[in-house]
Amino acid sequence: TTYIVGVDVGATTTKFGLLTSRGEHREQWKIPTDKKNGGKDFPPQIIAGIEERFRKHGISKGQVLGVGIGVPGFIDEDEEVVSAPNIGWKSYPLQSVFADAFDVPVCINNDANLAAAGEHWQGAGKNEASTFFITIGTGVGGGMIVNGELVNGVSGTAGEIGHTLVVPHGRLCTCGREGCLEEYVAVKGLRRSLRDHLRNGMDTSRLHEDSDAIAIYEAAASGDALARHIVNEAAYYLGYALANVATMLNPEKIIIGGGISAAGDTLLQPLHLHFKRFVLKEADRKLALEPARFGNDAGIYGAAWLVMKRLGYFDGRR
Ligand code: BGC
Ligand code: NA
Ligand code: ZN
Repeated sequence: TTYIVGVDVGATTTKFGLLTSRGEHREQWKIPTDKKNGGKDFPPQIIAGIEERFRKHGISKGQVLGVGIGVPGFIDEDEEVVSAPNIGWKSYPLQSVFADAFDVPVCINNDANLAAAGEHWQGAGKNEASTFFITIGTGVGGGMIVNGELVNGVSGTAGEIGHTLVVPHGRLCTCGREGCLEEYVAVKGLRRSLRDHLRNGMDTSRLHEDSDAIAIYEAAASGDALARHIVNEAAYYLGYALANVATMLNPEKIIIGGGISAAGDTLLQPLHLHFKRFVLKEADRKLALEPARFGNDAGIYGAAWLVMKRLGYFDGRR
């Protein structure tokens, strides 16, 4: 048997999947992401973690065909990390570090792009040619599949919905600009909204300065007026941004994934509502808005997909 390793580096947790080269899932595990020291100590831990699993299963390095890695940030055309603020990496030579450890192809791409690929390959977008995937968690990411191909763009930013502008001169974003979607809807965006509204004296029985995104969703679900207001605001901006995606890309499906999607209807219901109000009717004619099939695990499938694609599994070369 030959294997492919898929890695999804997350802002808090990094997930691994060991797949056979036939795409079957063997094992899945995770480790906390070590962001100390600008994230520099972490790649050796990823490599050690993979090697340990190989030993455990008696897999030799010769049985491994490739490693795919999703990173929450900007990846350039040479598959090197330009920046991943949520981890701390800046111009990080991840590709070289991995190539030294494993003598096989190492494919690196944006985490949301790979999750889009995973959903396209085996998930909610399996039967569609063109899909847009959005992940809402620590950050907001996106990836697009057009006619069965992952679109990277010339410098890797294609699909970056989290950095589309929704508020002129709005909140400052980690990308250095103002008004990005991410600053209004992701985990830290919700917390910013919370602090703003508390400062403006909005009344709440359940929320305080330090409430996190989960607490905000729980409070919203139980009817807290401020929490509902914050979630509704997030849904409004999301609906707005996704309506533009629908027009521009005209996909068959928009797939919604990531940690926050676990909030379920508390977010999805207002999101649907706002989206329907904003979307161009013609773009909406054959469009479905759907939750991701793999929840948080699409990225490791997509990482494996990228490796298999590189090796020629999908075009008859292999
Ligand atoms: C990053 C994206 C990433 C997303 C999801 C954002 O903060 O800018 O590149 O895909 O988080 O992790
Ligand atoms: Na992306
Ligand atoms: Zn931004």
